[in-house]
Amino acid sequence: MASSSSAAPSGSAAPAASATDAAGFSAADFFDTQTPPPTLAEHAAAVREFVERHRGKRRVVLVTSGGTTVPLEQNTVRFLDNFSAGTRGATSAEYFLSSGYAVIFMHRQHSLSPYTRHYSHTTNPFLDLLAEPPPVSSSLAFALRSRLDSSNDESGTATPGASMDAIRVRAKYTEQLLPVLRAYHKAQRAQTLLRIPFVTVSDYLFLLRDVSREMQLLGRDGLYYLAAAVSDFFVPRTKTPQHKIQSGKGSLMIEMDQVPKVLKPMVEQWAPEGFVVSFKLETDPDLLIPKAQAALERYGHQVVIGNDLALRKQEVVFVEPARAGSAGERAYTHQWLRLSELYPNGTHTGGKGKGGEVEIEEDIVRELSTRHQRWIEQGQRQ
Ligand code: PMT
Repeated sequence: MASSSSAAPSGSAAPAASATDAAGFSAADFFDTQTPPPTLAEHAAAVREFVERHRGKRRVVLVTSGGTTVPLEQNTVRFLDNFSAGTRGATSAEYFLSSGYAVIFMHRQHSLSPYTRHYSHTTNPFLDLLAEPPPVSSSLAFALRSRLDSSNDESGTATPGASMDAIRVRAKYTEQLLPVLRAYHKAQRAQTLLRIPFVTVSDYLFLLRDVSREMQLLGRDGLYYLAAAVSDFFVPRTKTPQHKIQSGKGSLMIEMDQVPKVLKPMVEQWAPEGFVVSFKLETDPDLLIPKAQAALERYGHQVVIGNDLALRKQEVVFVEPARAGSAGERAYTHQWLRLSELYPNGTHTGGKGKGGEVEIEEDIVRELSTRHQRWIEQGQRQ
């Protein structure tokens, strides 16, 4: 089962952050009545430490990625899910890291992650990259195991040169694997990647609130890149049965409440100085720009990136309010990024995609990094 994301009605007036949404839940009501994830305080503490480590040294981005679920039972057997493999978020996180950002990667548990995304178990299984080891007799296996045990240090890392020759990467894959492995270790050494998992829409919203509040200290150096596909409807805790819903009683009727839109309190209260970028997914390309403008009108943030489901890997549109100086009615600008126009006739070669193909996230991140820098400089002039 899958619930689809719907857009905010265009042109309607912005509701106050504490106002009740059409179906009953304001953001404040939601946080007062729903259960926070048990790890919330632990994750908030990790973000606090991360922000302290990087503040003043580099810009920090929160990347949200993957779909949220809506459990239909408290002991969950069934749930509704939102479409997203986490490709956009995981790929963008890698480009943010290589552009010098520290990244808080808030992602759906088990969805794609930076670096490991290149080795999805279905499309590029990691074991296929490794050469088949020579057959081992049981005595040789015993000797090999002893050598590995004795050469491991306390952290469990094998000492190079011991029995590492027993496991080899196939020659044809080393070229592909090396840059990924190097980038991964660079991020590990610099501690520039913090991962925070979520599963349900409720986990997501509590984490988004608390992570954003912890990032407030960063002021304009904080970028918020909201690529997750968030459920629009949910079943409140008081209406979620404890046990598995029993079948055999005919059709199942589920009444869902609307999830409050949290971009408004995010922009006004949780991250008032941050550079906030949301995504808008549509299947009708004609709706992308009007819906993106309606979101900017409603929430007052900095950029909406519109993407059409079928073309999202080839083109996106950046929509933002027109710069100060344009008097009168609110105006918006839009700019398309299209791989076909950026790299006509394959002028970009050696991309980081699986087959060496170009990834549009590289251009999205480059463009956003420039716009974020402009936002920081505007703040310095004020
Ligand atoms: O992972 P992939 O398979 O690569 O797919 C990537 C993607 C297509 C899912 C991604 O690029 C994308 O478009 N994500 C946003 C999907 C969407 O349209 O979400 P939405 O309409 O539910 O929300 C729009 C924005 O409002 C989002 O940025 C969200 O953070 C925000 N929102 C949503 C729900 C909610 N209750 N409060 C919010 O503030």
